[in-house]
Order: sequence, then C-alpha cells, then structure tokens
Amino acid sequence: MKKYLVIGNPIEHSLSPKLHNYWIKKNKIDAVYDKKLINEADIEDLIFQVKKENISGINVTVPFKKKAISFVDELTSEANESQSINTIYKENDKVIGHNTDMAGFELGLRYVNYDVKDKKIFILGAGGVVSSMILVLKKMGASKIILSNRTKKKAEDLKKSFSYLEIIDWGKTPEFDMIINATSLGLKNNDEIKLNYLDIGVNKFFYDVIYNPKETIFLKRAKMFGNKAENGKMMFLYQAHQAFTIWHKIMPEINDETIKLLD
Ligand code: ATR
Repeated sequence: MKKYLVIGNPIEHSLSPKLHNYWIKKNKIDAVYDKKLINEADIEDLIFQVKKENISGINVTVPFKKKAISFVDELTSEANESQSINTIYKENDKVIGHNTDMAGFELGLRYVNYDVKDKKIFILGAGGVVSSMILVLKKMGASKIILSNRTKKKAEDLKKSFSYLEIIDWGKTPEFDMIINATSLGLKNNDEIKLNYLDIGVNKFFYDVIYNPKETIFLKRAKMFGNKAENGKMMFLYQAHQAFTIWHKIMPEINDETIKLLD
C-alpha cells in the first residue's frame, strides 16, 4: 500500500487527508493519506523517505513550504519561481519539489469568476503561500499589488523578488478592489483582523485563504458591510487535485459531492 502524507505545524485543521482518501477510495487505489505534525528538524528525514520510496508523496503546508526546498533534489519551474513547495514526489530517481498552490489559486479565482485584470489587490501576510499568489495575480493582469505584514522585514524580503510590490505598514488600509487574508489570523475562531470597514466602501472582493473554519470574522464582516466574500476552499481543492493527478496519474473528479465533503 502506498503512503502519502501532509506535513505541517499546526496540522489539525488540514482537510487534505479527508479529500485525498475520498479520491483514493473512489478510484480504487491501494494507498493511504495521513497527516503528520512535525517540527523543522523532521523535514529532512521525511523527504528522504520519499527517496527510499517508503513514502510515495508529501504535501507540505505552513510553515514549511520554503524550508522544504533545501531537501529536495530538483524544483519544477513553478516551485523555483515561487520559491515555495507544497507537493513532493519521486521521478527518475530524483525527489522533486513542486508547487500546486499557483494553479490552485488561479483555478479558484476562475471558478468564482473574479477577473483580477486591472484591479488593485491588497494582500495581508507574507507567509509561505503569498509568493504563489503574487505571481498569479501579476500574470492575470492585476494593476497594483499592495502588501502588508505584521513583521515588515518579511514584506520587504518579498519585494526583493517582486519589485512591483507596494509595501505598507501593518494596520494601514489602502484603497483596493480585492483584499486577501493570507495570514493565519482566523484559524482560531476569535482571531480578528483590524480593518476599518466603513472606510473600505462596498462591493469589494474579500478573499480568505483559510477554509476551515468556513467563514472567518474577516469574511463575516465583509458580507455585513456589503462586499463579496470567498474562502480558500476552491483553491485548496484545486491544489489537491493537481497533486493527486501527479502522484496517481489519475485526474479525480471535482463535483458537488467533493465540494460538500469540505463543508
Ligand atoms: P510563515 O510566515 O512561517 O511561512 P505562515 O503560517 O505561512 O508561516 O504565515 C503566517 C502569516 O500570518 C505571517 O504573515 C504572519 O505574520 P508575521 O510574519 O509577522 O509572523 C501572519 N500572522 C500570524 N499571526 C499573526 C497575528 N497575530 N497578527 C498579524 N499577523 C499574523
């Protein structure tokens, strides 16, 4: 039986095992997908297990998407461009680090029919998934990408790779069309992001990378003030879809049942 894992810290909230095991069963594959809470020191050995074929594939989640890069043999172009990996597999005797967050984010945006072309985007956070989002937003024609992070240094580091970013202080709210919460604020139910909703106006698009809980305070407030709100469920679903297809060489189905599975 083939073994797959999602590694991260925290990991309890991850719905990857539920989704992958559902598709594994649907497609009658002899495999199991588990989650594992790890520390940074465990990454190297786990990736070595892919080389030894004790583990067939790994999904990497927060906060290890960047750190895992040093332990794989090769990066795909997406992983290299974003300097972030979330999917690991072995091919031709090499352990490959790949990024399916970029495709996941783009397909998720297309699914909700939001066109970022010529839009001003405001990103909160500078963690592992943000570089993937920046690349996709730029590629899709966003006119401006503004970024703010509690630790400003991390925002400034991102600007070294993406010079077109505009960095602003944490707590400030610029004018925007779309705002993305890419921080971990909201994972705990009473987590709040301080924003002056009255100044923001209406009909903006609020996007939260968090999908569990389903509706963060950030999204609840957005709706209350007359904005459009989406969580990261479809992004999550599509990044998993891409990883599954690479590992099992089978394209699993995304339908109402799959989407409901994550509610
Ligand atoms: P990492 O930054 O290690 O890759 P992550 O979970 O991908 O981990 O990212 C966490 C993000 O949430 C970061 O942008 C973090 O801000 P810092 O860089 O200042 O740590 C942000 N974050 C987490 N808790 C926060 C809080 N209480 N207030 C504001 N931002 C927070």
